[in-house]
Amino acid sequence: MKNPTKLSALVAVSAFALLTGCGPGDSKTSPATPATGAPGKVKIGFIVKQPEEPWFQLEWKFAQQAADANHFELVKIGAVDGEKALAAIDNLAAQQAQGFVICTPDTKLGPAIAAKAKASNLKLLTVDDQFLGADGKPMADVHHLGISARNIGHMVGKALDAEMKKRGWNAADTALCVMTFDELDTARERTEGATEAIVAAGFAKGKIFKAAQKTSDVPGAFDAANILLTQNSGVKHWLLCGMNDSAVMGAVRAMEGRGLTAENIAGIGINGSDDCLSEFKKAKPTGFFASVLLSAKRHGQETSEMMFKWISTGVEPAKATYTDGVLITRETYQAILKEQGL
Ligand code: GLA
Repeated sequence: MKNPTKLSALVAVSAFALLTGCGPGDSKTSPATPATGAPGKVKIGFIVKQPEEPWFQLEWKFAQQAADANHFELVKIGAVDGEKALAAIDNLAAQQAQGFVICTPDTKLGPAIAAKAKASNLKLLTVDDQFLGADGKPMADVHHLGISARNIGHMVGKALDAEMKKRGWNAADTALCVMTFDELDTARERTEGATEAIVAAGFAKGKIFKAAQKTSDVPGAFDAANILLTQNSGVKHWLLCGMNDSAVMGAVRAMEGRGLTAENIAGIGINGSDDCLSEFKKAKPTGFFASVLLSAKRHGQETSEMMFKWISTGVEPAKATYTDGVLITRETYQAILKEQGL
């Protein structure tokens, strides 16, 4: 250790920043060289809203692969609320990172996060959930990579219609349960897309029931579905969709709690990450019938690489990148994952 005094001062500053949410990043001075690690080594933050969700763990895994391959340092931070997200940026600035990728816990924080990133001289790229400006519209000036939400919703709706027909379910005793989380644009577009497509295929609007989740996790979906099931106890066959696998998983568990089984439920999630795969691996099929496999690899690896190139070579990423998905079931998932090198 060449300069212990300098190092301990830095540690103290970082600790202060972590505790108070204030740090050198609040000043207008921009870091020139990283304080730790090899001189000139690029340091990139990857902040996610739900670190416990398999989707975000996969994004981190692929971001780490990008870091290892390109020899930059990746700082993974879970930020479940706005306060933690803003403190994370101060923390990154204090560590003299040069940029970060973020899936924000609240899209309305967009202007505050963008302003803080700018003041701290940190490059910014959003992943998954696009920032909303003060006018409530997507902040098109912030670089973003997300899914083609409405198209993916359409895939879900069409697949639900096909499955209903395949099973020979009568329109009279079949209903669609839509787990919604409308405060998040990408979620609303997915469930609206699914609804649009199934209605276009002839499904009766009057047989579509929405259950609004208070939180976008399994317990949030479980609670919302339970309320809906109490109000609609006479339905024999349930088609089911939601913004992601957690939404569908929570609803499937609620339906199972009422004695419904795979024979009565056809649920299709979105993400295709570990939680969904563990359903497919169960010996007996569950109501979690299928999912749209998204590209966590592109979301984690590509965003980090875009950020790395931007920092190290000045090449700015595209303003907006949209990714697609592919339907997987317990019959097809192994072949598809293999095909995609997963
Ligand atoms: C949102 C959801 C995640 C995942 C991503 C994909 O952030 O919360 O579960 O579906 O979108 O972009």
